[in-house]
Amino acid sequence: MKETRLEIKVQELAVDELSPLEVELMSRAVAAARDAYAPYSRFQVGAAVMLTNGRIITGNNQENAAYPSGMCAERVAVFNAASQYPNVSVREIALVAMKNGTVADRITPCGACRQVLLEMEQRGNTPIRLMMCGKEKVQVVLSAADLLPLSFGSSDLK
Ligand code: THU
Repeated sequence: MKETRLEIKVQELAVDELSPLEVELMSRAVAAARDAYAPYSRFQVGAAVMLTNGRIITGNNQENAAYPSGMCAERVAVFNAASQYPNVSVREIALVAMKNGTVADRITPCGACRQVLLEMEQRGNTPIRLMMCGKEKVQVVLSAADLLPLSFGSSDLK
C-alpha cells in the first residue's frame, strides 16, 4: 500500500496588516454582503472578485423560498465576472459574511463553490488567491485548488 499525505498552505494575517488594495477588495465584499438577499438564513455573504484587468466585480447570496434554488455569493460573483469578461482571468477574491449587520468570523466556501472556483482558476490559467475575511483576522489560500484536493475536473472527461 502506498500512502500519500496532501498538505495545503493557509496564511493568516490581521485585518490591519492588509495592503490598501486588499482593504479595498474586502470593503467591496462587505458592501456586497450588505445587499445580499438572505431573508431565510439572515446570513449575508459578499464576495469581491479582482480580475487580471484590475476590474472588481461583486456578488452576494441570493436566497429563494424554494431553498435549493438560491445561490451562494461566491458563485454569483464569479459567474457575474465571467459573464461580463469571459476572456479575463480571476486573480483574487475576498469573501465576507455578516450577521446582524456586522462582519462575522471568517467563512470558507461551500463544496459547490469550491468546485466552481477551481474551474474558474483552470479556465483562467491563473492561481486565484482567496481572502477569507473575518472581523479581525483574514485567512488566505493562494490557489482555489488548495480548497479541493483530489478534485474532479475537465481533464477527467477527456
Ligand atoms: N453562503 C454563501 O453565500 N457562501 C458561503 O460560502 C457559505 C454559505 C450562503 C448560502 C445561504 O444563502 C446562506 O449563506 C446560509 O447558508
